[in-house]
Amino acid sequence: MASSPFSPLLLLPLVILATIAIGSSSDEPKEKMTHLHFYFYDYYGGPNATTITVVSPPGNSSFGSIGVGDNILREGPESSSKLIGRAQELAVQAGQESTAYLSALNFVFTAGEYNGSGFSILGRAVLTETMERGIVGGTGMFRMARGYTLSKLIRSTGTTELELVMEYDAYIYHY
Ligand SMILES: *[C@@H]1O[C@H](CO)[C@@H](O)[C@H](O)[C@H]1NC(C)=O
Ligand SMILES: *[C@@H]1O[C@H](CO)[C@@H](O)[C@H](O)[C@H]1NC(C)=O
Ligand SMILES: *[C@@H]1O[C@H](CO)[C@@H](O)[C@H](O)[C@H]1NC(C)=O
Repeated sequence: MASSPFSPLLLLPLVILATIAIGSSSDEPKEKMTHLHFYFYDYYGGPNATTITVVSPPGNSSFGSIGVGDNILREGPESSSKLIGRAQELAVQAGQESTAYLSALNFVFTAGEYNGSGFSILGRAVLTETMERGIVGGTGMFRMARGYTLSKLIRSTGTTELELVMEYDAYIYHY
């Protein structure tokens, strides 16, 4: 998992702004920004499915369907790359005119410097777009987290047993 902060030049104005906003007291915790870059693996169908549909609405529309996922987080875009955590997910197909999920995910890291820490996101997911979702909280090293994630589908293989791979960038503001 690359924990590459922004270039110092980009970060500098943020640091200055944060310092001004927080005030002069030097014993108050300082807010930091951590950028995480990782890959999210989602499997449908077959013995190793990580996502299941738990509610199928009546009729032939997917509107109202609900899925639950226990997805896999890896360092790189190859399925053999290092496992770094899981992402438990609830996704409701809440779009009537087009497929748009109301999604809630908890990311939990199980390796590396963020082992045991996690953060949660909530937002709209449309698989054909670059998705931006808000970070609404965190635990461990990411306590008090806020921020956003950008993610996009980079690979989709299989038919009845489907592997979806998403690339994630998370910009986490925390103390
Ligand atoms: C499911 O996972 C097991 C254990 O990792 C693996 O041996 C098997 O090949 C996988 N099956 C499929 C269909 O991917
Ligand atoms: C549902 O099925 C009906 C009848 O076959 C069809 O007219 C309608 O377009 C379908 N709706 C969707 C959303 O596929
Ligand atoms: C992550 O933390 C748990 C609990 O402290 C520990 O048991 C486990 O070995 C750690 N995993 C890695 C890969 O460091």
